[in-house]
Amino acid sequence: MRTRQLQSLLRNTKRNLVEFKELGGYSEIYKYSIENNTEFWEKLARSRLDWKEDFTQVSNSCFKNGSISWFADGKLNVFDNCVTRHLPDRADQPALIYEKDEPGTEEFVSYAQLHSLVNRFANVLKSKGVKKGDRVAIYYPVSPLGVAAMLACAKIGAVHSVVFAGFSADALRQRIIDADCRVVICADGTYRGGRYINLKSVVDQAIENLDLVETVLVGTRNPEAQKLTTGKDVDLDQALESASDNCESEPMNAEDPLFLLYTSGSTGKPKGLVHSQAGYLLYAAVTTSAVFDCQPGDRFGCVADIGWITGHTYTVYGPLVNGAVSLLFESVPSYPDPGRYWATVEKYNLTQFYGAPTAYRSLLRHSNEFIEKYDRSSLKRIGSVGEPINTEAWEWLHHTVGSSKVRIADTWWQTETGGNMITPVPCDEGAAFKPGSAQRPFYGIEPVLKSADGKTVEGNSVDGALCIAKPWPGIARTIHGDHERFRNVYLNVFDDVYTTGDGAHRDVDGEYTITGRMDDVINVSGHRLGTAEVEDCLAQLEFISEAAVVGIPEETKGEVPYAFIILKEGVIDSSEHKLLASQHVAKVIAKFAVPQDTIIVDGLPKTRSGKIMRRILRKLAASSVQTFAEIAPELGDISTLAEPEVVEEIFLKKCQS
Ligand code: PRX
Repeated sequence: MRTRQLQSLLRNTKRNLVEFKELGGYSEIYKYSIENNTEFWEKLARSRLDWKEDFTQVSNSCFKNGSISWFADGKLNVFDNCVTRHLPDRADQPALIYEKDEPGTEEFVSYAQLHSLVNRFANVLKSKGVKKGDRVAIYYPVSPLGVAAMLACAKIGAVHSVVFAGFSADALRQRIIDADCRVVICADGTYRGGRYINLKSVVDQAIENLDLVETVLVGTRNPEAQKLTTGKDVDLDQALESASDNCESEPMNAEDPLFLLYTSGSTGKPKGLVHSQAGYLLYAAVTTSAVFDCQPGDRFGCVADIGWITGHTYTVYGPLVNGAVSLLFESVPSYPDPGRYWATVEKYNLTQFYGAPTAYRSLLRHSNEFIEKYDRSSLKRIGSVGEPINTEAWEWLHHTVGSSKVRIADTWWQTETGGNMITPVPCDEGAAFKPGSAQRPFYGIEPVLKSADGKTVEGNSVDGALCIAKPWPGIARTIHGDHERFRNVYLNVFDDVYTTGDGAHRDVDGEYTITGRMDDVINVSGHRLGTAEVEDCLAQLEFISEAAVVGIPEETKGEVPYAFIILKEGVIDSSEHKLLASQHVAKVIAKFAVPQDTIIVDGLPKTRSGKIMRRILRKLAASSVQTFAEIAPELGDISTLAEPEVVEEIFLKKCQS
């Protein structure tokens, strides 16, 4: 498909998919996408992507066997699809708007400039010995160089592993080792809310005595910063300046890995999920255009960091593959005041705005003045992602921010799914919106609910474990280095479906509301965190003999971790230990993982078989009552615990702390 044809195709895509518009609206296209699943994706793969070699196989996927593969014998290059093919039409138009922390200091990067930058970047990577299939760690905040680093990897077939630039040195080190990265790309630092954050020192700590890492490419954010500190450091800006902007793109097999992205699970070790080249890109392309009505030239404002999947799919790949302009937002929603988001919408006439409920909740407490003084009439869509959005925040987004005109896309999805899975849009004109509910599956996505015994829950007004029946192109293919874990966690929980780990309610209309995680994973300000990760980290401290961590609700952040620790014998109970515990979690994982409170206890509520009853701890942690008698009825039957008296002791310790 040539660029011009594709452009005109995309221009005509209003909400629904132009390729199937003869079928009707959402309901008809959805029905077709399920009943003719491979034809559906085949058609889109041909119309939305440019192939270097056409494919003959569409899907060869079987959840039961643990194999997922789409368009397997086709070849393409992701960078060429995201940038090169737009050059004939939009070389001089912006591809990226870099909204830096300090208002008024923005930079624009045109498609031609991005093309040249990525080519030079790719040559720098090659000169450092990076080859197709090598993993490269990127510890970069959202910025043109961070995006170019990802695209340069895609261009030469290296696999990027972006580590959120808020993770600690230990977390970065663990991820560099797991993915076997010889090259790390980072910035000297970043600015957030007027404050400079030094990132290079984190990288230095992360790679201390780590022979595996040979080169650290360091880009400049603050020209005053001392950015070259070790013998492995290379000045990225200088290297880019002297590199040639001529570079051949590597033809990649559809199923080659494009990137790894680490996320938390219910055990301590983070999982490096592997996403594919073609399937992932197609899913990013189609969801961005259909859910957000994204047209070429639209100004797409996804404020997620590139360290998370939302940043990968809706800040980088989705907008660019659709020929849109992507906003890179370095700052925080409250800087210099709570109107920053809407000032940004006005300044660039953003057509889409996509953010997280935690940020929306923090903003809605402020005066509407911060919203109303800016023109938001350019917005077609406002998206929400990462956790359930409460009704108050939904209403505020729709009525106050969106002047009761903008459609709200509450998008449910996961790092593993690659892109939006359940969301109220696209839908037929006039279809009802339900605040707080993700509602309808995206095309080709078939949700099923399972009961604890693995039976499919039929009918409406029912609850169950949310699973997906059919493979789709955007699903992650494996966990780096541990396919068995991938199969066990996602594909073998129930027969022949992908298990999401979330619970859901199917309402009277057959639409879905996510009820939350069914495992020990929590969501802190939209950051996914395994409570087991925090427990493992606390248990490393020599004064702690056992730790239990649970998530409890919190108004702005959604959930926060809350810890109970038992000190080793002979260690004297003191508040010093709580402080050390918090500092350790910040050092090993990240600041967002630090428990809201840590209670030192003598025992934990366990079953006779030794399993910690986190349900009880959750109730104790979240309660604000003053006497045990008040909370006792909520705890259920505790008589079957190995030591039931421990529950009241914990309650008293918490009251005293
Ligand atoms: O529990 C769900 C919640 O976030 C989890 C996925 O987290 P992560 O992989 O970090 O990806 C976040 C960005 C896609 C899900 O299992 N979640 C995500 N979006 C929603 C949500 N819960 C309710 N409603 C949502 N819209």
